[in-house]
Amino acid sequence: VSKLVYLASVSQDGYIAAPDGSTDAFDVGPELIDFLVRTYPEALPTHAREQMGIGGALAFGSVLMGRRTYEVGLKLGITSPYRHLEQYVVSRSMERLPSDDLHLISGDPVSAVRKLKARGGKDIWLCGGGVLAGELIGEIDELVLKRQPVLFGAGIPLVAGRFSAVRFRCAGEVNAGAVAVATYRR
Ligand SMILES: NC(=O)c1ccc[n+]([C@@H]2O[C@H](COP(=O)([O-])OP(=O)(O)OC[C@H]3O[C@@H](n4cnc5c(N)ncnc54)[C@H](OP(=O)(O)O)[C@@H]3O)[C@@H](O)[C@H]2O)c1
Repeated sequence: VSKLVYLASVSQDGYIAAPDGSTDAFDVGPELIDFLVRTYPEALPTHAREQMGIGGALAFGSVLMGRRTYEVGLKLGITSPYRHLEQYVVSRSMERLPSDDLHLISGDPVSAVRKLKARGGKDIWLCGGGVLAGELIGEIDELVLKRQPVLFGAGIPLVAGRFSAVRFRCAGEVNAGAVAVATYRR
């Protein structure tokens, strides 16, 4: 059975983006890029991987994006951000996706994730955002938080919605320059 891993950058006060949805305040210095290349090379967008001359996927075989997360790249003309992975976009409002590379999940994302998990093989990357993470809270097996040295005060929460406390145990933390990458397992 594969795991659902929520890997995201998060402010010290628990936001994955500023109130306007921007993530410019996040540090993406060379140490963080080095860490990702060594540990999660598949979490870099395909165009960046091509520019850097890196390939391979270590942890993930697929990626799940909420509609608003997918639209961040789409607004920049990137229709297929992670072509090296099997890509899923979760949306009730989109009827079709602008690229045949992607699969649309318009039904219940929980049952879709359970089916993906049951196939086994590489893990599933939950790219975000907070709304989708809230819908999938019961299915998240691991959190990999790129803890950013910034406070937003308000913004897009790491996990949105109401649910009973979900406990994880810390499985390690590494420093990647200004960013501490912490892993938590269910
Ligand atoms: N820091 C990071 O690492 C990181 C990572 C990812 C995203 N982000 C940021 O997060 C923001 C987007 O996150 P968000 O929380 O606002 O939105 P989101 O979770 O990306 O997308 C929400 C949308 O997903 C669809 N969705 C969610 N649950 C669903 C369900 N049960 N069934 C069907 N569709 C469902 C809906 O689309 P429809 O409305 O189309 O039905 C919903 O409006 C962006 O600003 C982005 O920059 C940051």
